[in-house]
Amino acid sequence: MDNAIEEYIRSHIDPEDDYLHRLYRDTQLRLSYGQMASGHVQGRLLKMLTRMIRPKLVVELGTFSGYSALCLAEGLEDGAVLHTFEVYDEQEDFTRPWLEGSKYADRIRFHIGDALQLIPEMGLQDIDMAFIDADKRHYTEFYEMLLPRMRKGGFIVADNTLWYGHVVENETRQSDLQTLGIKAFNDMLAKDQRVEKVIVPVRDGLTLIRVKD
Ligand SMILES: C[S@@+](CC[C@H](N)C(=O)[O-])C[C@H]1O[C@@H](n2cnc3c(N)ncnc32)[C@H](O)[C@@H]1O
Repeated sequence: MDNAIEEYIRSHIDPEDDYLHRLYRDTQLRLSYGQMASGHVQGRLLKMLTRMIRPKLVVELGTFSGYSALCLAEGLEDGAVLHTFEVYDEQEDFTRPWLEGSKYADRIRFHIGDALQLIPEMGLQDIDMAFIDADKRHYTEFYEMLLPRMRKGGFIVADNTLWYGHVVENETRQSDLQTLGIKAFNDMLAKDQRVEKVIVPVRDGLTLIRVKD
């Protein structure tokens, strides 16, 4: 997005609170790939979507520094819970204190491990809202694992579905497994009659998916 437009949007939407702002800065300072964190605009959108959906049970695939987890948790009503999953165990030392130190800590369950394995093992069912933001090579597997666990009428939000614009390149190198993964997911989803879907060109592309009744 054009920098001036992004700045204009930032100055005309809710600010991120000081805690989130500090987490974002710490993410950029201390972590490699800090750009993976959602940030101000997408964070406010995630909170707003959560407010709109009013879920009781949310799962997030890909916690990283915890920025999006805190935005999802901020949108939850009392008694609702977010389970967030991070496969990279070395991330825990950074992320857990930020999640546990937040005013939304009691709504968040942080799990270290592969979401593809842990969610079925935990038997999570009747999920109202899922945020897919983990390994781009496995988006279709994440989706197929989640779909039977979703409540009818529930929502899946998939991040990075325009993947820096690579999805519209004519030729994708066979070694570029992330672009291939996102393209396969988008192509599969376009034909999937089990759900309604729309791609929103926010940041790197956010696909909103509703599980049909
Ligand atoms: C783009 S980052 C997540 C950013 C975060 N959701 C945010 O918006 O602030 C993706 C994260 O997913 C994690 N990840 C990748 N594959 C995973 C899996 N199978 N299960 C859980 N986490 C995974 C990566 O280690 C990485 O930290």
